[in-house]
Formats: sequence, structure tokens, C-alpha cells
Amino acid sequence: MADRGEERGVALVTGAAGGIGAAIALRLARDGWTVVATDLAAPRLALPADALQLPLDVSDAAAVAALAARLADRPVAALVNAAGLFQDVVPFLDMDTALEARIFAVNYFGALACCRAFGRLMAARGRGAIVNVTSINEARPLPLHAYAPAKAALGAATALMAGDLGPLGIRVNAVAPGFTLTPTLKAKIESGARDASVLEAHAAQRRLVEPDEVAAATAFLLSDAASAVTGATLPVDAGWIATAHWMNFRDLGRNR
Ligand SMILES: NC(=O)c1ccc[n+]([C@@H]2O[C@H](COP(=O)([O-])OP(=O)(O)OC[C@H]3O[C@@H](n4cnc5c(N)ncnc54)[C@H](O)[C@@H]3O)[C@@H](O)[C@H]2O)c1
Repeated sequence: MADRGEERGVALVTGAAGGIGAAIALRLARDGWTVVATDLAAPRLALPADALQLPLDVSDAAAVAALAARLADRPVAALVNAAGLFQDVVPFLDMDTALEARIFAVNYFGALACCRAFGRLMAARGRGAIVNVTSINEARPLPLHAYAPAKAALGAATALMAGDLGPLGIRVNAVAPGFTLTPTLKAKIESGARDASVLEAHAAQRRLVEPDEVAAATAFLLSDAASAVTGATLPVDAGWIATAHWMNFRDLGRNR
């Protein structure tokens, strides 16, 4: 639970019907933020009565602008870009350009459009914090030829935005989740597309990440406890980035 004396305001979360976005929206409400939870269809979360739950397609620039106009007289002080599209593993030469464009439209341009539209509201009040949900792909690209570069681009843009928005009183950071046990990942494990024991073995903590752990890191980055933190990416990955490449050493990798 956050400091009671801390000034909050309205926190907008995209992708809030998803596993990580929902955990973030619920956590921010518990911390005292007035949450605006958005997703392609309006989320149906157990949020306090002052919350709004609205449809928002982040790849629709007009819809993003319209929601920003609707919230212009509210004290929007936080934005979390959790909306994201995954992709299957497809060899580079077989990648579909329409799929590439769609993944960038949501995971990169959609997040940037929200940062710009809601960042303007924050700039008008001289105060705000943004968290972009990137991925371990930002640091160690997996063979996901649109998803990985889109997340890396969002990480780079996070640092650039921090530079521009810092003088305006706005901090911009990212959380980079590792393999997080959301319904989406659970379905991939159940279908055999991912092997949980392999994912766990490659993380320093030998486990997957829980959505609440990504939410806790996000809440920290939005809070005054992170008042001098901007332009950073915080991995929340059970140490996957630290040790995934250890598999190159037989005794430290597969046979651990
Ligand atoms: N689960 C993981 O292991 C993991 C790891 C690293 C990063 N991430 C990132 O975390 C974020 C949340 O992922 P999740 O695991 O909760 O997946 P999820 O599929 O449960 O949630 C993603 C949400 O984004 C929404 N969305 C998709 N396109 C949208 C659009 N155009 N506009 C608005 N919303 C849209 C979906 O409807 C969905 O509710 C994503 O950005 C994802 O890339 C997840």
C-alpha cells in the first residue's frame, strides 16, 4: 500500500483486460489512483466506483485523441502502456509484412500515441509519470521478428521521451517483464508451444514471474518513491536476462 500523503490523480492503463494490464489496474486502484482501465473492449475489472472502464484501440490515433480530449479536465498523472500483441515464431524470410505492421502499430506506435496524447495532459499540469511495458526481448531478442524489435524500439523511445518530458515534470520509464504467468502464457504452456520447465530453468530464480510482481514494479515507478528515476528500464524477469545465456555452458545451462 502506498504512502497516504502522496499526491495521486488519474492513472490510465491500456491493455487492462489482459493478464498484466489487469494486475496493474487493480494494484494502482489499491494504491489510491483513480483508474481509467482501457482495452479493445471495455475491461470488466473489480475496480472502485470512481474508476472508468472504456474501450480504446491504441492503434487508432483518432480514438486515442478523443479519449485524451474527454479526460482533459481530469488530473491525469499516470499512464501505463500495457496493451500488446504477441506473435508466433516465424522464420524471418516468411514473416508477413501485414503482421509486422500490425505489431508495430500496437506495440510501438500505439504506445507512442498514448504517451503523446496523455503526456500533453500531464505537461499542462507540470506533473506525471509514464510506464511502458516492454519485454526481456528489449535486452535479449528472441526469434520474434516483429515483436522483439517493436519492444526494443519502445525501450529506446522510453529513454528519448524521458529526455524531452523531464523538464516538463514528467518521468518516463519501462518495465521489462520476463515470462509472466498470464492466461496467454498459460495457454501457450498448455498447448505445448512453451515448456514451463525450460523457461524456469533459464531464470536465476528458477521460476516464472507473476502478474502482480510486474504490477508492483510499475506501481513503484509511478510513485514518489521513484521520484529521481526516469529513462530507465526495470527488468521484472526472475533474473532471466542475467542467466538465460548461461545455457552455452553445459554444466551451468541445460544440466543445472
Ligand atoms: N506475459 C508475458 O510473459 C509477457 C512478457 C513480456 C512482456 N509482456 C507484455 O506485457 C503486456 C501485457 O501482456 P499480457 O501477458 O498481459 O498479455 P494479454 O494478451 O493478456 O494482454 C494484452 C492486452 O492488450 C490488448 N490489446 C491488444 N491489442 C490492442 C489494441 N490495439 N488496443 C488496446 N489493447 C490491445 C489485448 O486485448 C489484451 O487484453 C504486453 O505488452 C506484452 O507484450 C508480456
